[in-house]
Amino acid sequence: MDNFVFRNPTKIVFGRGAESKVGEEARAVASKVLLHFGGGSIKRSGLHDKVVASLKAAGVAYVELGGVEPNPRLGLVKEGIALCRKEKVGLVLAVGGGSVIDSAKAIALGVPYSGDVWDFYSGKAEPTEALPVGTILTIPAAGSEASTGSVITKEEGLYKRACNSELIYPHFSILDPELAFTLPPDQIANGAADIMAHLLERYFTNSRPVEFTDRLIEATLRTVIDAAPRVLAKRDDYDAWAELMWAGTIAHNNLLNTGRVGDWATHDLEHEVSAVYGVAHGAGLAALFPSWMRFTLKQDVARFAQIANRVWGLEIVPRDIERAALRGIAALEGFWGSIGLSVRLSGLGVKEDRIREMADKLTENGKRQVGNFVKIGRDEAIKIYTMALRD
Ligand code: NZQ
Ligand code: ZN
Repeated sequence: MDNFVFRNPTKIVFGRGAESKVGEEARAVASKVLLHFGGGSIKRSGLHDKVVASLKAAGVAYVELGGVEPNPRLGLVKEGIALCRKEKVGLVLAVGGGSVIDSAKAIALGVPYSGDVWDFYSGKAEPTEALPVGTILTIPAAGSEASTGSVITKEEGLYKRACNSELIYPHFSILDPELAFTLPPDQIANGAADIMAHLLERYFTNSRPVEFTDRLIEATLRTVIDAAPRVLAKRDDYDAWAELMWAGTIAHNNLLNTGRVGDWATHDLEHEVSAVYGVAHGAGLAALFPSWMRFTLKQDVARFAQIANRVWGLEIVPRDIERAALRGIAALEGFWGSIGLSVRLSGLGVKEDRIREMADKLTENGKRQVGNFVKIGRDEAIKIYTMALRD
């Protein structure tokens, strides 16, 4: 196990009706908040009214900024920064999914910074302060509700980049599984794929031995594999949603990468696809992960066989562990297919003619590699994108 320091300061308020606590939680941090949300799902579900009522009851003033798009944009972040400064806001409250939370985190980073907030995403500067962020989560998926990450797309050039900083761990996150009842099936599947991808990125590591965290990751994967079909079959299955929502947070709150170095190449490969084609993050991951797995299989066939056995229940024949490893990848594809996801980029409308452009952007024209389990440069990225295009 590698040495590590682990600290996750996000307060989780979990359960039925938990959103009624938002006024109280916000008041402990600030007297005025920015209420930040997406394209309208929280208005249609009635959540917006409940949040406003709770803030008012707690005597917390608020200004609003809606309109965050999936794959959130820098332009709206800058509007949010200007609004927070003008209104002297003390807390950015994100009500929505990963996109809204990431946009809120970007605003929180930008308010105290005199330069361009994109500097934190391009790697030009490191953040040193941020406004506090609070969240009410409406979709189990990105894990941003308890993560150090924020992923933003710059419209000019279509660059989707992440900033990671402990400063943007949310101060509190409210998780009410009932808020997910209104999700459409495609978003449920995208979310499940993203949660599983966060687990797989951590699973494929060269750190040794990591038995305890392997077991935790396997258990979390099995939980998602069990719960996702249940919520798809019965949209108001609270118990299944509760499992899925908490698994989604644990998958990405950094507990499961303690003592190990995760891979993350597939996430980087996917961000280029989302930036160019606007596809949902989880959908892009499902279309890429099986190909990344086949490409990197030889790095550690035993690890691929182990996950096939422990997560998918497939038998390992000692003389032919590669067979189990490959069957495990096929089982993952079968599961994602069964919940409506495409496991090839061709299913998302990606075309061969933009592969080179994505690989160039990913690797800064071949100058940079991504991934830790296996290093991926421009040529390898082109191979993985091409494999993922084929049936
Ligand atoms: O915008 P609204 O109207 O709210 O609709 C959203 C959106 O269209 C809808 N939705 C959310 N909750 C709903 C609902 N519809 C009905 N009922 C509900 N309860 O779902 C759509 C997708 O929302 P979005 O926030 O984009 O989804 P997700 O949570 O998957 O977030 C994706 C973003 O997170 C980033 C991704 O790259 C992507 O940009 N990630 C952030 C990470 C982090 N900060 O740690 C890590 C992840 O790996 C990921 O990269
Ligand atoms: Zn992700």
